[in-house]
Amino acid sequence: MSRIYLDNAATTAIDKEVLKAMTTVMEFQFGNPSSIHAHGREVRSIIENARKTVAKLLNTSPAEIFFTSGGTEADNMAINCSIEDYGITHAITSKIEHHAVLHTLEILEKKGKIKLSFVKLDEKGHVDLAHLEELLQTNERSLVSLMHANNEIGNLIDLEKVGDICEKYNAIFHTDTVQTMGHYAHDLSKLKVHFITCAAHKLHGPKGVGFLYINHNIKIKPMIHGGAQERNMRGGTENVYGIVGLAKALEIAYAELEEHQNYIQGLKSYMIDKLQNEIPDVKFNGDIDPNRSLYTVLNVSFPTSEMGEMLLFNLDIAGISASGGSACSSGSNVGSHVLTNINSDPGRPAVRFSFCKNNTKEEIDLVVEKLKDFFLVKA
Ligand SMILES: Cc1ncc(COP(=O)(O)O)c(C=O)c1O
Repeated sequence: MSRIYLDNAATTAIDKEVLKAMTTVMEFQFGNPSSIHAHGREVRSIIENARKTVAKLLNTSPAEIFFTSGGTEADNMAINCSIEDYGITHAITSKIEHHAVLHTLEILEKKGKIKLSFVKLDEKGHVDLAHLEELLQTNERSLVSLMHANNEIGNLIDLEKVGDICEKYNAIFHTDTVQTMGHYAHDLSKLKVHFITCAAHKLHGPKGVGFLYINHNIKIKPMIHGGAQERNMRGGTENVYGIVGLAKALEIAYAELEEHQNYIQGLKSYMIDKLQNEIPDVKFNGDIDPNRSLYTVLNVSFPTSEMGEMLLFNLDIAGISASGGSACSSGSNVGSHVLTNINSDPGRPAVRFSFCKNNTKEEIDLVVEKLKDFFLVKA
C-alpha cells in the first residue's frame, strides 16, 4: 500500500509544472543576476518577471515584494526591522503564533527593546479583538503581529477587522500568512496590512524560498547586509530557481483557487463527519466553522486509550503521515505551545491532519478505518 500524506501544513509535494519551470532555469539560465552582461541580464529579467507575477496575483506593486529564504526570514525581517526602524517599544501578539514570530519577539523583549503583550484568546482559540483594542490604548507606537491562520489548529483571524483596529491606533500590522498564501485570494490593494509573509513550500513550491510584502508606506532598513540585491533590502545572490518555482506555484494556486478551496473543504468536512460518526468521543482543537477555520487543517483530539498514547507513531507505522503540530512530530503532543494555550485537554492525544488538492476521500476512509482499529474495542 502506498503511504498516505496528510501533513500538508508542514510541507507540500512540489507541483510537476513548478519543477519543470525550475529545472529549465537551472539547466539553461545560470548567470548571476547581478552581472551586467547578457547572461546576468537574462536571469535578472527572470527574477523581475517572477516578482511581477507575484505582485499581480496579490494586486499590489512589484516594488513591495522582497524575496527571502522562506517564512521564518520574512517574519524575522518584518518584526526586527519595524521595531528597530520605527522605534517601537510595544509589541502585541498571541501565545499561539508560530515560533518564527514568538521567539523573535521574546528575544527582543529579553534584550529590553520592547514590552510584549499577549492578546487574550477565547474558548475556541480565537483572538479577543476587544482585548486587542484595550492593549493598543497606550501612548506607545505598537507593532501587532497576529497570524492569518494558525498552522496547528487552523483558526483564522479577520484581517479586515484587525487591520481597521491597527489603523485606528496607528499601529504597524504584521500578519504571518504562510499557511494561507495561495489558499485564499489576498487583495493587497484593499487589506490594511503592512507586512505579510510567504513560504513557497506550503503551496506546492520549493523549500528555502518565500517573500515578504512590505507596504509602500513602510520604510525599513535591511536585516541581512551584503550586496545590493532585492533593491538593497537583502544582500546575497538570489535563489533564482526557488524564486521561479515560487511564482509558478502561486500562479497555479490562483488559477485553481476556488476549485481547490471547495474540494479540500469537502475533504475536511467529510473527515469531520466520519470521525464524529465512527469514533466515540472525538473532539476538535480550535474552531471547525468553515468561515473561521483554514480548510486545509483539522486538529483532532482523541479519547485517551492505550493505542492513542503513541498515536502519531502508530499512524506512521500504519503508513499514514500526520503530525502533532509544528513544534512536535515525535509521537505525542507534548510540546505544542498552541494546544497548551487553548482549552485543549492535555490528557487526550491530538493529531493535526492537513490536506491538499492531491488527497482523496478514499484516503480519508482508510485513515478513519485505521483510527477505528486504535480506538474501538473489538468485541
Ligand atoms: C505559520 C508559519 N509561519 C512560518 C513558518 C516558517 O516557514 P519556513 O519554515 O518556510 O521558514 C511556518 C512553517 O511551518 C508556518 O507554518
